[in-house]
Amino acid sequence: MIGSAAFWNRHATGYAARNFGNPAAYEATLSRVRAHLSPGDNVLELGCGTGTTALRLADTGARIEAWDHASAMIALAQAKPEAAAAADVTFHAGEIEAAIARGPFDAVLAFNLLHLLDDLDATLADIHGALRPGGLILSKTICKPDRGGPVLYHLLRACLPLLQRLGKAPAMRLRRVSALEAAVRHAGFEIIETGNYPDAPPRRFIVARKPG
Ligand SMILES: C[S@@+](CC[C@H](N)C(=O)[O-])C[C@H]1O[C@@H](n2cnc3c(N)ncnc32)[C@H](O)[C@@H]1O
Repeated sequence: MIGSAAFWNRHATGYAARNFGNPAAYEATLSRVRAHLSPGDNVLELGCGTGTTALRLADTGARIEAWDHASAMIALAQAKPEAAAAADVTFHAGEIEAAIARGPFDAVLAFNLLHLLDDLDATLADIHGALRPGGLILSKTICKPDRGGPVLYHLLRACLPLLQRLGKAPAMRLRRVSALEAAVRHAGFEIIETGNYPDAPPRRFIVARKPG
């Protein structure tokens, strides 16, 4: 299986062309994220992909550093016309460790990323260390349904090992919502808001606070 950055470099153009599966769920997520950001906040987005979310959040007045380890994703983000107009949004190619070292931050965003990490616990601990006391991690992550779930989800799960062997899907570890939230708490965060946008399979939105 190819490494994660190589995978995402290869699939950057296809990812950029992809339509959001559920626009209403995406807008609901953005609206909840906006509720937690204030003008002047120092915000880090990890795994920003082609920068859509960072650019949509430019109107919050937060200063957003958006990072991704796939340089092809960052090149697509920087080439967007909105990127030229968003003075407070900057894009950077690099690993999570390099991004985190630029803290402290008021908020760290991680959308559609946590299931892709090699070591979730270590990254959550690093994010905790990079936040100021009272700072927030805001994440959204596809999770395993506790029961049921759409047929398409189960079909894709069944095909995942083959797709990964063929280089058509990244390495990932899907967890149940309870396991993901336990990892967030274990890293020292207090969960202050959750939601599923959408419900099935749960794309779990979690806002968690570093006590301070
Ligand atoms: C599924 S995409 C999500 C992109 C964007 N956040 C979104 O919600 O559309 C995952 C992104 O995370 C990036 N990524 C995965 N693992 C990473 C890591 N260890 N360090 C930095 N970026 C990573 C990938 O390159 C890819 O662009």
